[in-house]
Formats: sequence, structure tokens, C-alpha cells
Amino acid sequence: MASRGLKICLAMSLLFLIIVAIVIVALFFTIFRPKDPNIIVHPVGFENFNPSLLTNVTANVSLGMLITIENSNYENFEYPNATGYIKFHDTVVGQVPIVGELVPPRSQINVNTSANFMVAKLINDPNFLSDFLSGIVNFTSTASLPGKAHMLKIIKFKATVYSSCDISLNITSRNVDSKCISKIKL
Ligand SMILES: *[C@@H]1O[C@H](CO)[C@@H](O)[C@H](O)[C@H]1NC(C)=O
Ligand SMILES: *[C@@H]1O[C@H](CO)[C@@H](O)[C@H](O)[C@H]1NC(C)=O
Ligand SMILES: *[C@@H]1O[C@H](CO)[C@@H](O)[C@H](O)[C@H]1NC(C)=O
Ligand SMILES: *[C@@H]1O[C@H](CO)[C@@H](O)[C@H](O)[C@H]1NC(C)=O
Ligand SMILES: *[C@@H]1O[C@H](CO)[C@@H](O)[C@H](O)[C@H]1NC(C)=O
Ligand SMILES: *[C@@H]1O[C@H](CO)[C@@H](O)[C@H](O)[C@H]1NC(C)=O
Repeated sequence: MASRGLKICLAMSLLFLIIVAIVIVALFFTIFRPKDPNIIVHPVGFENFNPSLLTNVTANVSLGMLITIENSNYENFEYPNATGYIKFHDTVVGQVPIVGELVPPRSQINVNTSANFMVAKLINDPNFLSDFLSGIVNFTSTASLPGKAHMLKIIKFKATVYSSCDISLNITSRNVDSKCISKIKL
């Protein structure tokens, strides 16, 4: 009889463990499953930009950038200082320093920074003149943030966020349009 009670007890414990394991796995794939963040890179101050600055080919021109990072996960996302790159066609024409931050779970932060455009590289690109005259100059920005996600100091893993944006400047209206895609990889 005692051994039958023991068997039942073992079976119950095993069942309990299986249920706990299923719940943990289910939680991991639902709540903890990393969701892509939402990153928007938006140049600011282009309205006041003076195009005559582009005539000094030895200069670097800086343009303010507002970066909004929205973390849709249940973990904190923390990343160190990083650099974003701005490309015109296939040439890197600018750099964007990004100061490391912690983005709390399910919230968003704004990061102010300024892009450093190398005028010589931009002007010397064979596509620049025709694009400028067409009234629209397109750039792409890319950044990777090799950070970590953590929650309650227990769950902690490396996570890298990749962001890429198409930024379109309308020279006549001084209007800025940006479309961004972001991915998180563990
Ligand atoms: C061009 O830019 C360089 C570096 O910023 C500066 O030293 C120089 O005075 C500028 N030249 C003109 C004509 O504005
Ligand atoms: C412009 O920026 C580049 C790259 O950041 C740097 O190497 C160069 O010294 C800068 N030039 C000036 C005039 O600030
Ligand atoms: C990150 O950049 C900021 C501003 O440039 C600087 O004050 C800080 O020391 C940097 N942090 C690290 C870890 O390099
Ligand atoms: C970013 O700069 C804008 C003005 O340029 C300011 O209103 C805003 O408070 C700044 N945001 C942060 C997070 O510093
Ligand atoms: C710039 O981008 C816009 C939208 O992303 C596109 O419609 C347009 O053709 C592009 N213009 C050039 C000159 O590449
Ligand atoms: C740029 O903006 C102006 C004024 O809003 C508009 O008329 C023009 O069509 C825009 N250019 C392009 C290529 O979209």
C-alpha cells in the first residue's frame, strides 16, 4: 500500500513539474519573447538649415537628430554608447553619436543628438547634384545597439537592436520624412 501511495505521489509531482515547465516555456514564448523595438530617427532643425554651408567642402555640418526608442518588451533594454551612420546612396556621409541609455520596459525615451555630415563626401558623390536639383535628397541611417535585456536581475540576456531608416529631405519645403525598421536579435 505504501508503495502505491509513493507512486501516486511521484506521479503527482511529475505532473506538477511538467505543468510548471509548460507554463515557463509558454511565458518565455509569449511575455518574454523579444519584440522588435520601434526606433524613429528624425532630423530636427532642417527648417533653419543654411544650404550655403554646403559650399564649404572642408567643413563638417551638424544637423540635430531626435531619436525615439520605444521598448515594447517586458524587460529593460540597456545599450552602451554607439555610433550610427548616415549613407547617401552607397557612401557614408555622416556619423551620429548615440549616448548609451536604459529604456524601461514598455516605454519610450527620446535621445537628442546631432549628425555630423562630411560635406566633401556628400558633394563629391556623383548623384548629389541631380538629387539636389530634383528637390529630394534621400539618406539612409543605420545603427546597431549591442545591448542587453534584463528583468529583476534574474532574466538577463544579450540583445542587439538593428535600426535602419529611410530619410527623405524635401529641399524646397524643408520637409523631413523618415521611415524606420528595427529588429532585435538575441
Ligand atoms: C570652412 O570650414 C572650415 C572648417 O570648419 C573653416 O575653418 C573655414 O573657415 C571655413 N571656410 C569658409 C569660407 O567658411
Ligand atoms: C569632420 O568629421 C570627420 C569624421 O568625423 C573628421 O575626421 C574630420 O576631422 C572632421 N573635420 C572637421 C573640419 O571638423
Ligand atoms: C558615453 O558618451 C558620453 C558622452 O559623450 C560620455 O560622457 C561617457 O563617458 C561615454 N560612456 C562610455 C562608457 O564610454
Ligand atoms: C531634445 O531637444 C529638444 C529641443 O531641441 C528639447 O525640447 C527636448 O526636451 C530635448 N529632449 C531631451 C530628452 O533632452
Ligand atoms: C526618395 O525616397 C522616396 C520615398 O522613400 C522615393 O519616392 C523617391 O523616389 C526617392 N528619390 C530619390 C531621388 O531617390
Ligand atoms: C516638396 O514640397 C513641396 C511643397 O510642399 C511640394 O510642392 C513638392 O511636391 C515636394 N517635392 C517632392 C519631390 O515631393
